[in-house]
Amino acid sequence: MTWPRDLADRLGVRLPIFLAPMAGGPSTPALAAAVSEAGGLGALGCGYSAPEQIRAEVEEVRRRTQAPFAVNLFAPEPHDWPPPAEPLARAASRLQAYRDELGLGPVGDLPPPPDFDAQLELVLELRPRALSITSGALPPARVKTLHDAGILVMATATTPAEAEVLEASGVDAVVTQGAEAGGHRANFLAPGERSFIGTMALVPRVADAVKVPVVAAGGIMDGRGIAACLALGASAVSLGTAFLACDESGAAAAHKAALRAAPGDDATGLTRAFSGKPARGLVNRFMREQAASADVLPYPAQNQLTAGLRREAARQGRSDLMSFWAGQGAPLARGGPAGRLLAALAEEAEAALRRLG
Ligand SMILES: Cc1cc2nc3c(=O)[nH]c(=O)nc-3n(C[C@H](O)[C@H](O)[C@H](O)COP(=O)(O)O)c2cc1C
Repeated sequence: MTWPRDLADRLGVRLPIFLAPMAGGPSTPALAAAVSEAGGLGALGCGYSAPEQIRAEVEEVRRRTQAPFAVNLFAPEPHDWPPPAEPLARAASRLQAYRDELGLGPVGDLPPPPDFDAQLELVLELRPRALSITSGALPPARVKTLHDAGILVMATATTPAEAEVLEASGVDAVVTQGAEAGGHRANFLAPGERSFIGTMALVPRVADAVKVPVVAAGGIMDGRGIAACLALGASAVSLGTAFLACDESGAAAAHKAALRAAPGDDATGLTRAFSGKPARGLVNRFMREQAASADVLPYPAQNQLTAGLRREAARQGRSDLMSFWAGQGAPLARGGPAGRLLAALAEEAEAALRRLG
């Protein structure tokens, strides 16, 4: 079979199969390097990372492989910092019962969210093969600065309108995030509930709307999903949940176990309660109990507010209070070494396309 080569050749990868960036622990340097070394495009999810952590992780990937990889950052979103006192106090008091259960006292001063300009400066210095951006568009001048440094730029769209804005900013490829996807919604033009198109409809609509290559993401778990997305017009695919379960993934053991245990009906749902931004995860007690809460701060304040709670819940193995981001394909996750999964995905996609003639 002939794989699409337009984007793969520009990136210098053998296979147009990408590791979706997963900040907050899952996308370790070992996972990124394993995917890149096996011929795909590995990625480091650095959205929450301070510059020195990004440097350490990029250096670690480079110690493990000479193959190209991507770094991912969150586009800066306008926000008040520190968050206004009254809503903050209400949101904090909502969470105190969980903190009590974990033996944590009242929340103190919130750590500020990472400084995007400092993160971008470092990316320009370190020059990974690609930078991918989620939840927004960069100004064209910044995309040009990245290009001048030899860095390809990709960015995520949840609607054709977002894809057009990203293309106008000068990106080299648009990543479509279908409604099935695990993790945070990447919408930046319209509210989340109006930016919720499934992969099957989103990929061809975006492929028709823009001239740059399209990378499909959301619900792709095996070669059948890859073949389908190539047929829909994608030049590459990006898989998060499938790699989340792999040996090199830094996801907590309880998170990996929950993926495997996900029941046959849809075990995932959307919540704003962990971070202030809609995200898809395995439904647990925290998501259920906070579903109707009006006391959720906007992103990134809620994310900073729940950070200590989530960290302690993970330390104590409390699955009922952790964020278990996962896509709708979770029950299809297989785990094992990431390189072996990548090889299997490629073989399966080839077999699926052969079957269709
Ligand atoms: C645990 C987890 C963390 C994620 N973190 C990020 C991130 O830091 N940056 C980003 O662009 N997307 C992030 N995503 C979304 C993925 O990049 C991608 O859109 C999604 O995983 C694709 O759907 P799938 O999970 O069904 O494969 C995350 C997804 C998961 C499951």
